[in-house]
Amino acid sequence: MEVVVLDSADAVAEYGAQRIIGLVKQNSAAVLGLATGRTPVALYKCLIRAYQQGDISFQDVITFNLDEYVGIGDDEPLSFSAFMRRELFNAIDINVENTHIPKCPEGENPFQVGEEYERSIELAGGIDLQLLGIGTNGHIGFNEPTSSLASRTRVKTLAGSTIHDNSLNTNKAGVSAELAVTMGIGTILDTRRVLLLATGDGKARAISAAVEGPVSSMCPASALQLHPKVTVVVDQAAASQLQLVDYYQHVHQQQAAVQTRFGQRAVDQPLY
Ligand code: PGA
Repeated sequence: MEVVVLDSADAVAEYGAQRIIGLVKQNSAAVLGLATGRTPVALYKCLIRAYQQGDISFQDVITFNLDEYVGIGDDEPLSFSAFMRRELFNAIDINVENTHIPKCPEGENPFQVGEEYERSIELAGGIDLQLLGIGTNGHIGFNEPTSSLASRTRVKTLAGSTIHDNSLNTNKAGVSAELAVTMGIGTILDTRRVLLLATGDGKARAISAAVEGPVSSMCPASALQLHPKVTVVVDQAAASQLQLVDYYQHVHQQQAAVQTRFGQRAVDQPLY
């Protein structure tokens, strides 16, 4: 696992965006796994800026979002579909038909939605890079603690702490979707590369458990230790409970030297 500790939340967003921009420049038809929540918003702003400056185009990019609430319509402002249009899709040249979200409005069967979502990811050739946030309880997507580490896209009951955090996010106490369709941990582990961002001291405990704790379904993000190409990008606050920060920074500095000597990076290649 590559751990990058940066000075500020803005630097985390910029670093994450540069990884995605690099990938899209290398492969204009890249398949991106996207996330919602507070954390990716600043990163999406950086992507929009890069698009507006003519630096990249999303015309052929395909996207798959991690999750969506069950029983919520596409146009409801609290839906993740609306979030994605507001925070990213409306401001770039992406083809809406290339964007996927595991939508399950009232009347649809979430079990079927999950199975179809898995099939569409497969048909697209798999996900090149999955962007993730992390919940204060260590969840990724809506894979709450004790989720199977082999789970696929399915319906999931949200944890009380997630419902609480979400109501703070939306600034509307009482908004409480209790079920979601989410990519599974197995689905996330099948992606070719993972970029997890976390900022603020509220995430420090979850980051410490994910990066340095045992692999355990009690912290679903710890399953990422089984993935060979994960980059965790955190600000100082989110890194504050990590024990090996000095080592991660040392590794980061060494990477340039390794690249010069051997032509590729020690931790991961390619460097998007
Ligand atoms: P946040 O959510 O970015 O709003 O903190 C992250 C998550 O719950 O995965």
